[in-house]
Amino acid sequence: MTSAVTSVFVRDAADADGPGIAAVVGAVFAEYHGCVLDIDGEMPDLLRPAESYARAGGSAWVATGADGTVHATCGVAPAAASLTLGPGWELHRLYVAKPARRQGLGHRFCALAEAVARERGGRFLEAWSDCRFVDAHRLYERVGFLRQPEIRVLNDRSHSVEYRFLKRL
Ligand SMILES: CC(C)(COP(=O)(O)OP(=O)(O)OC[C@H]1O[C@@H](n2cnc3c(N)ncnc32)[C@H](O)[C@@H]1OP(=O)(O)O)[C@@H](O)C(=O)NCCC(=O)NCCS
Repeated sequence: MTSAVTSVFVRDAADADGPGIAAVVGAVFAEYHGCVLDIDGEMPDLLRPAESYARAGGSAWVATGADGTVHATCGVAPAAASLTLGPGWELHRLYVAKPARRQGLGHRFCALAEAVARERGGRFLEAWSDCRFVDAHRLYERVGFLRQPEIRVLNDRSHSVEYRFLKRL
């Protein structure tokens, strides 16, 4: 049995966190039937998070244990502007390793992403989430996102079908 992780620290992600982030996302994907992690092909941003999010004009964070092990990650970056809502931000890559869950990290990352979006003039925060990630859907709705009618099909190796969650700011 894996013991729960306690005492985690949230900080900005560095490019050196790439392998630790990849390990977290790999372990999360292994929990979900059909989820395939193809870092080089589909998620290269995970390997150099600081550079990738800086280039996109956003921010990325990790939660680490006292020994530096990465237990969770999340990012936020500008979203495509909406004709009706104006400029907005998108929450990306929220993953918490199983032993670090249910301690508030998911809520904390959502709050961080929302704070960045508000500070930078965003009128909305959105998140696209695969239909298999039901824990995330509950989290998003708890923190004020509303699930939208649209879905998108990614045609990726995981055959992802994503729901859109939206919070007006
Ligand atoms: C969805 C996910 C990010 C949530 O992360 P998390 O750190 O467990 O989130 P939180 O701890 O903030 O909240 C989760 C639950 O724990 C509860 N909780 C938070 N702190 C708690 C505490 N100290 N004691 C007891 N329960 C607590 C919350 O109320 C919430 O309860 P609910 O499930 O009944 O709504 C995580 O489960 C995950 O990574 N899942 C797999 C990947 C995924 O779906 N990612 C999203 C991609 S879009």
